Amino acid sequence: MEETFIRSVKYENEVLTILDQTKLPTVTEFLELTKIEEVWEAIKHLKVRGAPAIGIAAAYGLLLGIKDAPEEDFATFYQHFKEKQDYLATSRPTAVNLFWALNKMEERVKKEQHQSILYIKNALEEEAHLIRNQDEEVCRSIGEQALTLLEDGMGVLTHCNAGGIATAKYGTALAPLYLAKEKGWNIKVFADETRPLLQGARLTTWELMQAGIDVTLIADNMAAMVMQKGWVQAVMVGCDRVAANGDVANKIGTYGVALLAKAHHIPFFVAAPMSTIDLQTKTGEEIPIEERGSEEITNSFGKQTAPNGVKVFNPAFDVTPNNLITAIITERGIVKGNYQEELSKLFSNSHV
Ligand code: MRU
Repeated sequence: MEETFIRSVKYENEVLTILDQTKLPTVTEFLELTKIEEVWEAIKHLKVRGAPAIGIAAAYGLLLGIKDAPEEDFATFYQHFKEKQDYLATSRPTAVNLFWALNKMEERVKKEQHQSILYIKNALEEEAHLIRNQDEEVCRSIGEQALTLLEDGMGVLTHCNAGGIATAKYGTALAPLYLAKEKGWNIKVFADETRPLLQGARLTTWELMQAGIDVTLIADNMAAMVMQKGWVQAVMVGCDRVAANGDVANKIGTYGVALLAKAHHIPFFVAAPMSTIDLQTKTGEEIPIEERGSEEITNSFGKQTAPNGVKVFNPAFDVTPNNLITAIITERGIVKGNYQEELSKLFSNSHV
């Protein structure tokens, strides 16, 4: 299992190396980023994508943004830090991990404010590595929890890509599939293509095939038929933000899959690290939904498929209401039933 994973985000010697996910599956190319603007652009254009990976990249991006910050006094440094933090926060609006990671970095700055600026800069590098390393452990743990909901021989449908390259390692929704493979189970995965940017077709099938996992690609509009045929016993997806009441934002199309699962009496599971749960956002209605350019639909991958000037609606995410979700799987346990209560209980013992 170890060797099947590519590190999609890595930071060393003031260079952030990311796997350019827009080039997959045909080209495996790594980009070396040395400026905060390059990191902003990479997040915006989905070169690095997936909620946890966005958060990790942002933490490292902030390091690039503050490396030349004035070192005379804390107030000037802090102002510089805040400007860079605010800038990265504008890259994408939906995945709360972006803001979570930027806040973790700010908390560290505040904690170390009586130290020298050089010390603070080193502490921030340590913090960014912590965010990355913690995500790896978190994903492994989500995989272990999620595996208890699956059985050998099952068919599992997934939407978008919540795999190793969307996180530090293992992924969230795909983590149990890797662990199942380790156990010698034969899970048959159906990967939705995931229009318009094809994360399912380009990324999920690529990842799973590398790991030798049985995966079948379907266009999004085939999920209903695959369920009707009885080929799917569970749906497993990742997410970008969980509201306090358990409503979940994930890649556009997830809501439709949840409705289909309900109609076919198939459990619908959401894998969510604690860093994706946002108790400040009360319900799904409050989750900011990113809208992207019309060309992603009319001219995707270089081919015009709609008339010039056609009106387009292109939300990148949708919200699945809590009543369609069988369980939310976190590194601290599996939550179901009264999400409002159960999610807040997860936070009550300690803080992430
Ligand atoms: O627009 P993307 O590709 O960043 O959307 C990603 C998703 O919707 C994933 O399911 C989610 O971020 C979870 S990744 C572990």
